[in-house]
Amino acid sequence: MSQAVSQPFAYAAEPDRPASHLFYVTRLRRPLVDRAEGIYLWDQRGRRMIDGSSGAMVVNVGHGNRNVLDAMKRQMDRVTFAYRLHFENEAAEELARRLAAKMPGDLDRIFFVSGGSEAVESAIKLARQWAVATNQPKRWKVMTRFPSYHGGTIGALAVTGDLALTESFAPQIRDMPSVPAPTAYRDRDNLTMEQRGQRYADMLEEKILAEGPESVLAFIMEPIGGAATAALVPPDSYFPRIREICDRYGILLIHDEVMTGAARTGRYLGGDHWSCRPDIITLSKGIGSGYAPLGAMAASRKLVKPVLDMGGFQHGYTYAGNPLSCAAGLAVLGEMERLDCVGNAAAMGELLQQELRGLAQRFPFVAGVRGKGLLIGADLVADPETFAPLPKTLNANQRLLDLAYERGMIIYSRRIRGGDAELDNIILAPPLIIDAAQIGEMTAILGDALEALAAELDLPVNR
Ligand SMILES: Cc1ncc(COP(=O)(O)O)c(C=O)c1O
Repeated sequence: MSQAVSQPFAYAAEPDRPASHLFYVTRLRRPLVDRAEGIYLWDQRGRRMIDGSSGAMVVNVGHGNRNVLDAMKRQMDRVTFAYRLHFENEAAEELARRLAAKMPGDLDRIFFVSGGSEAVESAIKLARQWAVATNQPKRWKVMTRFPSYHGGTIGALAVTGDLALTESFAPQIRDMPSVPAPTAYRDRDNLTMEQRGQRYADMLEEKILAEGPESVLAFIMEPIGGAATAALVPPDSYFPRIREICDRYGILLIHDEVMTGAARTGRYLGGDHWSCRPDIITLSKGIGSGYAPLGAMAASRKLVKPVLDMGGFQHGYTYAGNPLSCAAGLAVLGEMERLDCVGNAAAMGELLQQELRGLAQRFPFVAGVRGKGLLIGADLVADPETFAPLPKTLNANQRLLDLAYERGMIIYSRRIRGGDAELDNIILAPPLIIDAAQIGEMTAILGDALEALAAELDLPVNR
């Protein structure tokens, strides 16, 4: 295997463009976007790109949806901002009603925010205030999984399992206990998948007992993995056991559905595949679908009541529940239903997953194809049997991004850091309105990019 080192974050670099006052991750420049429609984006040089990752798994109803834009314009002509402590607004009321109807059990209390990290912060704070209001002041630890991703704010980083993102901030973060994410597909033991699922769930119980159950407030998890575990699907047995353990110790279960919610996985919620009953659900990304910054927390009545009775939820953000974001969210929900995004994500997801499995046969360094609906992931490995990682110096994940980008498609790819989680992974997550011909386009470009990656890094190909 070649040890060539490629530049990280090099994709779509435009070194000829002048320096900017803007900065994000690195100095490298990206193309200027011009317009977008459906599953495509165009840059100002006229290049068309397939949005194979819906941005960061955001644009679920696709770009440039006329009905959403018209609804936003109608709202803009009336009022774009009215502070929630001064006015209520119809869009927020109606969106809360419609979202509540999609939540399981009695999770019909909705708190709006502007993004995923804010939703996670809100969940942590509501849980804590509930504990205070119900005379359980010793409960404060929010247990999490490693690897995982729950957001970029300091509170959300405390429950995020990825050293690349948390290490620099360690002194500022209140470290929270974690258990391994249920990467059962990689385990090489004599257990069945169901037994593995139970074993991973049992690790939560062991950790709770080690921490002291009276100190544990909540457990947060992505029902289907996102950025850190690339569409990880736990064995079916995992979910009921986790619920049982949380109930046994009076611990709140938080499902972070920021990525998996809003029809992404072929059900409205990722947890709906297993009829999950968490106590709090966080949402963002697809509920605004990129039309406006929007996030939400859904909580059960039994949590919200004591907090409000106690004097109120000590939390909130300026833009929360603003009429424009909520009007966008409401129109997105309407379009999601009209276009049957749930059904299409399920059907097209099956097709895309099949195609990726085909590519994994041809390129044995692609392994562990998984996911549900249009959240599909795989690992890039040195050995598909043992899932031994590729050498870090190859930067395989970044090179694959570059090669796909050069061929007109955006995909999502990362390498997580920490423990035995050091694996390159990829995610395919196009808008939920994609059709079969466009899945074919994606597969062809990905096949081409993998061929180029294999040639460049001297990886095996089955011909
Ligand atoms: C599961 C999950 N939670 C939280 C977040 C944070 O969301 P945001 O980037 O909107 O703050 C993300 C973002 O990728 C996510 O995938």
